[in-house]
Amino acid sequence: MRTPLVAGNWKLNKTAAEAKALIEEMLPGLEAVTNVDNLVCPSYLAIPAVAELLKDSKVALGAQNVYWEEKGAFTAEVAPNMVAEFCEFVIIGHSERRAYFGETDETVNRRTKAALGAGLIPVVCVGETLEENEAGRTDEVVSRQMREGLAGLEIKSASQLVVAYEPVWAIGTGKAAYPEDASRVIGKSIRPVLVELFGNEIAQGVRVLYGGSVKPENARDFFSEEEVDGALVGGASLKSADFIAITEAAA
Ligand code: PGA
Repeated sequence: MRTPLVAGNWKLNKTAAEAKALIEEMLPGLEAVTNVDNLVCPSYLAIPAVAELLKDSKVALGAQNVYWEEKGAFTAEVAPNMVAEFCEFVIIGHSERRAYFGETDETVNRRTKAALGAGLIPVVCVGETLEENEAGRTDEVVSRQMREGLAGLEIKSASQLVVAYEPVWAIGTGKAAYPEDASRVIGKSIRPVLVELFGNEIAQGVRVLYGGSVKPENARDFFSEEEVDGALVGGASLKSADFIAITEAAA
């Protein structure tokens, strides 16, 4: 049995002071839900303040990106051990990074390896664009992102990896995928690649999340799909009542 994971990607929102206030507001509601893991991913600068508040809680902390070098002349980048000082998780290869910041399957692979090397749990994001979806290329694109993004990884246990399936056309648009379509893509192009890369036992334990316009109103439909082990939530993770309701729906 895979424990559901409900993760919040706060993107470019919330100062450190605002992030603290949001955590203070949502923490009691999240703590009250059992059998669901939670993760929040604030901006880098809010991470230390949030870490302080989450110290003895069940809510885990993650960053939204990480660089692959350990140190050196790489202005503005953040190294894996710097993230690992505060966080357990890191999101890698989000479609916004792919679309606006030149992220490729190759850089996803480098970041993922470096994150694992520092003891972080990567949340690796994959998903097709609207154009790819309409051209019937979803499975080809998603399985390629999986194979190339995760190539050469040494995963010794399923708890070292999380995958998020996020169709790009569903992110921030209010237009979620149909739960059964998300489940089909995971079952056809994500779980089988995990089996191919890491063997059946590890692959069956890796949590695969759905992301893209998850809301309290549709969360239950996603979580009732056997292949969906939780959600990566953007917009609704910034509203404490919504994030708590989505967490409750996963329980
Ligand atoms: P959204 O974002 O929930 O606002 O659609 C999801 C994501 O980008 O992970």
